[in-house]
Amino acid sequence: MAAEKEPHSQPLSSSWSVLPLDLSLLVLHLLPVYADRARFAAVCPQWRLAAKQPLPPPLPLLALPNGTFYSHPYSKSFRFPGCGFAGYKGTYGNWLVFPRDDGCFLVDPFSRSTVTLPALSQVRLRPPNAVAKWTDEGMHKVADPYVTWLHINESEELHITKLILCSPNLVAALVGIGHTSQILMCQPGALSWSVRAYDKCKDFEDMAFYQGKLYVIGTDENLLVVNISDDHNTGDPQVSKIGRVIQGDPWYPVVYQDSIMPCKKVYLVESRGALLMVRRAIWCRVPEPGVHGEIVAVQSEFEVFKADFEHSRWVKMSTVGDDEVLFLGRRCSRAMSVSQYVLSGGDLIFFLDDEEQNRVEYRFNEENTSCCVYDMRSGKVFSAQERISWKRCDEMRLAAWLFLQDG
Ligand SMILES: *[C@@H]1O[C@H](CO)[C@@H](O)[C@H](O)[C@H]1NC(C)=O
Ligand SMILES: *[C@@H]1O[C@H](CO)[C@@H](O)[C@H](O)[C@H]1NC(C)=O
Ligand SMILES: *[C@@H]1O[C@H](CO)[C@@H](O)[C@H](O)[C@H]1NC(C)=O
Ligand SMILES: *[C@@H]1O[C@H](CO)[C@@H](O)[C@H](O)[C@H]1NC(C)=O
Repeated sequence: MAAEKEPHSQPLSSSWSVLPLDLSLLVLHLLPVYADRARFAAVCPQWRLAAKQPLPPPLPLLALPNGTFYSHPYSKSFRFPGCGFAGYKGTYGNWLVFPRDDGCFLVDPFSRSTVTLPALSQVRLRPPNAVAKWTDEGMHKVADPYVTWLHINESEELHITKLILCSPNLVAALVGIGHTSQILMCQPGALSWSVRAYDKCKDFEDMAFYQGKLYVIGTDENLLVVNISDDHNTGDPQVSKIGRVIQGDPWYPVVYQDSIMPCKKVYLVESRGALLMVRRAIWCRVPEPGVHGEIVAVQSEFEVFKADFEHSRWVKMSTVGDDEVLFLGRRCSRAMSVSQYVLSGGDLIFFLDDEEQNRVEYRFNEENTSCCVYDMRSGKVFSAQERISWKRCDEMRLAAWLFLQDG
């Protein structure tokens, strides 16, 4: 039998590799899932070459903080060929973060490129001799008149909630504790961050680099633009001015009579050339008055707004687009067009029950949560990954989308 197979298998396998490049590219264009492309590339050198050509971005991977990746929508875990990239402590966009004593080390597992960043203790204050102001109120030292970087700069809980590599010369980060954060920036590989010492720390929720400018948004839904200049001496980037471009019209959580309370999260994401704000209401059940208990998140609901810069306002949208899908996460959000793929359609928002450290106001309904999808047309939520779920222990809180850098 084996002898009979021999003459067939040889010409067959060579016929795969003689598949013309444009045909293999056609096949690759139909594969939205990263794991499928990786398998395709592993077949032979010719196909590996084809997989290196510019292709539309694949669906993101789902990275769990314990080092497990899933190539959405497969429920089998995915391993990067060669090194497994275990031990990362967070992800931002296409970067895995490995902490080091003197800062951190970022690795892009797709391209294998790396970047080093300074430690949060290495900060250049502006002005350099700035000092924190405190008021004594009873027994306590209270920040006066509001919290600045100098009041939180030595906290052990300080962490990066958002990190964007905007350009080869600019890294911007939201750094803080709980609901209080500040904007820090540096050049990749630099020895220190730069921060404005007397700016008020805010409840920044998200940050986006859109059309060459850096934007931040807080729970007040005001869209702020960060004007960046270069330090005259060192050339390092620094915040020169922060201006409001859109005034928000937010709502804030109130407890309704039936013990239901909406909490909210706000995301910024670029989609089809526009900057979107996604407002996520997380409906929570509050314990009855007098009853001891936890606030439990029950259901998420989404509203999408487009930045109208000309009229300085948010414009509500009823759709994100028939072929458009949003992937939302605290660490990184991105929109993708799925028109080139044979998928079930768009107008969907994939989201994670992720939560920043020290920010948790409620716990999620299930002991294990996973990622879900919100259908803009029906307003219904479905489980996007029934077979993947993770226990909500502390370090597992931050699952994140890992996006292949486009281009
Ligand atoms: C924090 O700020 C104070 C100034 O108020 C400064 O003396 C101290 O060195 C700073 N600490 C760090 C870790 O940057
Ligand atoms: C930043 O501010 C300066 C001074 O106000 C202004 O001249 C410059 O155009 C601004 N840059 C951007 C990118 O907005
Ligand atoms: C959590 O796990 C249980 C049991 O394994 C399962 O029945 C349930 O559907 C899971 N919940 C979620 C949200 O994944
Ligand atoms: C990581 O967590 C997931 C979900 O809880 C689990 O299925 C997986 O086995 C874990 N991986 C490791 C390496 O612990």
